[in-house]
Parts: sequence; C-alpha cells; structure tokens
Amino acid sequence: MNRTKMIIDADTGIDDALAILYGLKSPKIDMEGITTVFGNIPVEMATDNTLRILKLAGREHEIPVSEGAGRPLTRSLNGFSTHVHGGNGIGDVELPVSSQQKLEEPAADFIIRKAEELRGELVIVAMGRLTNIAHALQKDPGLPSKVKHLYIMGGAVNVPGNVTPVSEANIWGDPEAADLVIQSGMSITLVGLDVTMKTLLHQSHLDSLARLSKSENQPIVSFINQSMQYYFDFYREVNAYRECAPMHDPLTVLIAVEPGIVRTQTMHLSVECGGEHCAGMTVADQRVKPSVGSPVQVCVDVSAEQAIDLLLEVFI
Ligand code: BDR
Ligand code: CA
Repeated sequence: MNRTKMIIDADTGIDDALAILYGLKSPKIDMEGITTVFGNIPVEMATDNTLRILKLAGREHEIPVSEGAGRPLTRSLNGFSTHVHGGNGIGDVELPVSSQQKLEEPAADFIIRKAEELRGELVIVAMGRLTNIAHALQKDPGLPSKVKHLYIMGGAVNVPGNVTPVSEANIWGDPEAADLVIQSGMSITLVGLDVTMKTLLHQSHLDSLARLSKSENQPIVSFINQSMQYYFDFYREVNAYRECAPMHDPLTVLIAVEPGIVRTQTMHLSVECGGEHCAGMTVADQRVKPSVGSPVQVCVDVSAEQAIDLLLEVFI
C-alpha cells in the first residue's frame, strides 16, 4: 500500500488532537511532521499540546514538530477560543509533558523543505488559520507545484458560519492568509462546515470504543473521551446538540486517505477580507460561468456515519 506522506498543520485544540491521533494511528499515513499555528490557543500552547499528544501516542521523538505563526498575516490578533476548547486547548485534560523539543526551523521553512524532499508527494492537512501556508507561499511562490494536495478544514460555502453569520473560525481568524492560499494555484480540497457539521461523534460511539479497544490503546481512548466532554458541553450550549460534537479536523485528515466518503464539486472560490459581518466568508461563484475566485474542490456531502466508523476503528 502507498502510504500518504502528510504534514498536519494544527492549532492543537480538542478536535485537532483527535485528528492528529488518527493520523498517527492510521496505517495509510506516514506522518512527516506537525506544524503549529495560533488559533484555538496561542501557538506556544499548540506546540506543547502537540508534543504531549505524540507522547500519549507513543511516538515521542519520532515525528518532528515545528512552530509557526503566532498572529495573522496582516491584521491583529483577535483573541483565542478557550470557551470552545478549554483553557489549555485540550478540554483542560492534563497530559504528561513530553521531553521532545520543537525544531529550531520555523513551520514555513519546514513545509518548504519537506515539499522539496518529497518531490511532489507531500499532502498537507491544514486544520487552523492558514497563516503558515501563506508564509510558505510568500517565501517560495513555486510551492504549489511541489505539493501534491492541500486539504483545508475551513469555510462555510452553502451553510451558515460558526463565528459570524457567514464565516467559519479558521478562515475568519486570518482571511488574508486564506485568500492568498486559495488563489495560489495549489491543488486544494475545502472541507468546510457544509460537511463537518454533519459528521457528529456521539458519546455512544465513545462508549463502544472504550469497550472494544485493546489495552494498548486505552490511554488514548480515555483521553479522547475526557477531552470530548468539554467539546460536547460547548456544542450543547451553542447548537443544542445532545452529547455529541462535529468532527471538523478529524474528518479533514480522514478525507485525505478516504476520499470516497465525501462528494466534491469544483467551485471558484475567494475569501472576503473586508466588511463588519462578512470578513472571512468563503464566497463560491456558483454561476453558470464563474469568473470570481480560483477553482478548488469543495466538499458538499459526506457519508457521516461511515466517516465516524473509519475514524474510530484505528483506536480499537
Ligand atoms: C475549526 O475551528 C476550531 O475550533 C476547530 O479546531 C476547527 O479547526 C472549526 O471551525
Ligand atoms: Ca483546528
């Protein structure tokens, strides 16, 4: 089997953590490195969480971690999402500290170097603000032809946003970076709220997982269960969901190796960078003859229950 050579770019919060753990466990993925970015939490905390998660997965000192941007490309920082992900970003669960250190090399440089080394085989999964990818593109405008594919968790094309009426958090947090990346010519799939809000992990899934998982996986399963309680509480308050939450970032990693679980449509896409209510909106030109934006694959439908099964089976 040809394993997918992947870099995950994360603002390591609760669903990022599950996405990383899935990526580390999947037999279809070679994790080439993890880069971190501000977003749910400050970038230093995202780096620390990432290192702790590698230790939890028994992969400490095996996967390089490179720290990236601490603030948006051009605008000023607009606070963090501790109300969504907890004070420490992972639902206030205390994981043991890792002895692994982050790389000296910043995230943008790491991405550029791995794209060169892997000669067109690198797949990037971006699960936070697109600032690191934007910095990499500014440093190396030839990057789009060296990256096999970029999967972006972000945007809300034909559904409401989750930070403003029209904007999703990862795009809203750095619209200029998102637009630069989308217009770059890189081969892109957008995994937006159109599909992630349908992909719900329920407490009943976690209860089954706890029963079925091998003893070696139980520390991971227990962490997932504990951290998800915070996420479930947030989605109960904001969306009136009962004991469940959408799997934004895990679905995005999954699609990179199981593309058949979503239906995509090519759309010309751009990001609104101005406006009081519309900054961060992903605007798709769905006219018969689109002329605004660049073509990307937009996920429009998902086999949600199958996606959850595939996500969880690596932890059994
Ligand atoms: C995105 O925002 C973050 O809170 C999640 O980790 C996900 O990447 C969903 O809008
Ligand atoms: Ca995220």
